[in-house]
Amino acid sequence: MEYKSATICFWSGTGNSYRVSTWLGKIAEDHGLKTQIISLEKAKSEKIYPAGKEGFMAIVFPTHGFTAPWHVLKTVWKLPQCNASHVFCLATRAGLKFGPLFIPGIGGSGTFVVALLLLLKGYKVRGAMGVDMPSNWFSLHPIQCLKNHEAIIDRAEQKVAGFAEKVFSHSKIWFTINNLYEVIFGTLLSFISIAYLLMGRFFLAKLFFANDNCDGCGICEKNCTVKAIAMRGKERDIPYWKYTCESCMKCATFCPQGAIEAGHSWGVILYFISAFPISVYLLSLIGFDLADIGSLERSLICNVLDMIYFYPAIFISYYIFSLLLRIPLVNCFFTHTTMTHLPFWGRYREPKTKLKELS
Ligand SMILES: Cc1cc2nc3c(=O)[nH]c(=O)nc-3n(C[C@H](O)[C@H](O)[C@H](O)COP(=O)(O)O)c2cc1C
Ligand code: SF4
Ligand code: SF4
Repeated sequence: MEYKSATICFWSGTGNSYRVSTWLGKIAEDHGLKTQIISLEKAKSEKIYPAGKEGFMAIVFPTHGFTAPWHVLKTVWKLPQCNASHVFCLATRAGLKFGPLFIPGIGGSGTFVVALLLLLKGYKVRGAMGVDMPSNWFSLHPIQCLKNHEAIIDRAEQKVAGFAEKVFSHSKIWFTINNLYEVIFGTLLSFISIAYLLMGRFFLAKLFFANDNCDGCGICEKNCTVKAIAMRGKERDIPYWKYTCESCMKCATFCPQGAIEAGHSWGVILYFISAFPISVYLLSLIGFDLADIGSLERSLICNVLDMIYFYPAIFISYYIFSLLLRIPLVNCFFTHTTMTHLPFWGRYREPKTKLKELS
């Protein structure tokens, strides 16, 4: 049976996943399919083209912490219940290029977890793939040159074309070298993914701040799909990052003033505050002797207490930090001690993507 329609749903911070969606959409149109490319958020409420085997669907999203971003998992779970469409999951991941060498990213468990959620909702999940697009994680490393980005993007486009050929010949796409690679790394790194979803993403969200170039235009707030920015201030509104931030990098890359930094010196301070071994202190206060219990129970008790401490610790610290940033000298100090402020560091966006296309 031929597909008659294609619905491609994407969530994208800096345009990579959006770009992959447009390539798939173009190939679907060339095959004569009635095609729609919509954001994952809209897919929750809008009618998805015909249910059943005639409907082809793809979910495209970035990799965060070797798995799918929390927002993607949550939104996929809210998609309309079972329409029996054939679904494919595509995760874009951080490709790098050094000289002639292309280094693949690690999508890990992302596509499989999304596939599992869709399966539980009654979709017929037919395959998964990781696609290397340029790494957008510029709070972690400086971005690569445009030539390297273009080479990685060209390669990805060819890969997506090969994938689409298989999809439209009704093949299932599970047993591939790429998926074997992801299963191995997804399993080995699963503890990092869990730690990322439970703690890491909240920590990363609290590294963002606006430097003194911010003019309070509010573009970052209006375009954040997870509504993670609140504009706050007395004389002038400036952005405040909430817990819901997914660190997708959209606000930082599309800020017209280039005013959004990921604070590295602040990150070091926040790390020491949030990693304070409060459990040992609290337990000793109430006269609890950790030596009395086995090491497994001991580490469980300590981890639970440390986690309970972690969330308010970063929340309160960030709140105080945001107040201090209003003092020009403090803002200047943190701005000039973060690497994202270095002139060569840069901010990544998929070169052809415009901000308005991402919502
Ligand atoms: C917070 C964060 C975490 C990331 N984690 C990973 C990862 O674990 N593995 C990987 O290959 N790429 C990782 N990346 C890179 C992105 O997944 C990749 O560049 C993706 O193509 C970005 O897509 P987008 O532009 O649609 O958001 C990460 C990026 C960010 C910002
Ligand atoms: S987009 Fe940039 S300049 Fe505008 S409010 Fe946000 S941080 Fe400030
Ligand atoms: S606040 Fe910025 S980085 Fe965080 S989710 Fe929104 S757009 Fe992405």
